[in-house]
Amino acid sequence: MQRSERIRAPRLRTARLRLEQLRPSDAALMWEAVQESRRSLARWMPWVAGSVSSDDMAAFVRRTRRSPRDLAWGIWPAGRAGAYGGTVGLHAIYPSQGTAMIGYWVRQRFAGCGHASEAAAAVILWAFAELGLERLEVSAATGNAASLRVIEKLGFVREGRLRHAQRIPGRRRRLDWFVASLIRSDLRRQRRGLRALTGAARPWES
Ligand SMILES: CC(C)(COP(=O)(O)OP(=O)(O)OC[C@H]1O[C@@H](n2cnc3c(N)ncnc32)[C@H](O)[C@@H]1OP(=O)(O)O)[C@@H](O)C(=O)NCCC(=O)NCCS
Repeated sequence: MQRSERIRAPRLRTARLRLEQLRPSDAALMWEAVQESRRSLARWMPWVAGSVSSDDMAAFVRRTRRSPRDLAWGIWPAGRAGAYGGTVGLHAIYPSQGTAMIGYWVRQRFAGCGHASEAAAAVILWAFAELGLERLEVSAATGNAASLRVIEKLGFVREGRLRHAQRIPGRRRRLDWFVASLIRSDLRRQRRGLRALTGAARPWES
């Protein structure tokens, strides 16, 4: 993984989801999903409190499309035309180091359907195969049981606790985070499980 040029996020397909690189034209539907999910998202994601309109979504999308360090996909559940299902993204991408971080959120109406695990598994399979990743990191607040379960299902290995890592607007106490990683050699035993989560052997087109 030596590329320093901007990387394109490919279309990914899983059994139930289509993942497309976010476009500014998605902003209105993203905003609708954020509004519907505001309570659950705002508990764990600091950007939610400061987001006031679809312009904030469009600005986020434009930022990720310009940045060589970010790739972000919209999650589109199959058979639910126009229903924006959430976002999955790679961040802090350092091609020369072969490292990146993954993040995700899912719209409230689809919570608990397995969409976060399915979408993240597709991104992970693609990133290790096509981006030449060596290490992928994820973190979640120690109280975020749903996200910690997603991390577990994806086969990440927990590495440690980051104390007072995050401040969430409206919360009195700072949050601790667990940090976990997948490294290339983990993939040997995780690949089958990740494929099972996506329901596809290879979720991207060549
Ligand atoms: C965390 C989040 C992405 C999970 O999305 P999802 O599509 O519901 O995730 P999945 O269905 O793939 O998996 C969720 C798992 O957590 C479990 N779960 C959900 N709530 C739980 C809780 N309160 N305690 C324990 N487990 C819980 C589910 O049962 C499921 O596990 P299972 O498949 O073994 O039954 C979603 O809830 C979300 O967007 N939350 C708000 C934003 C956020 O926290 N983003 C992550 C920041 S690190």
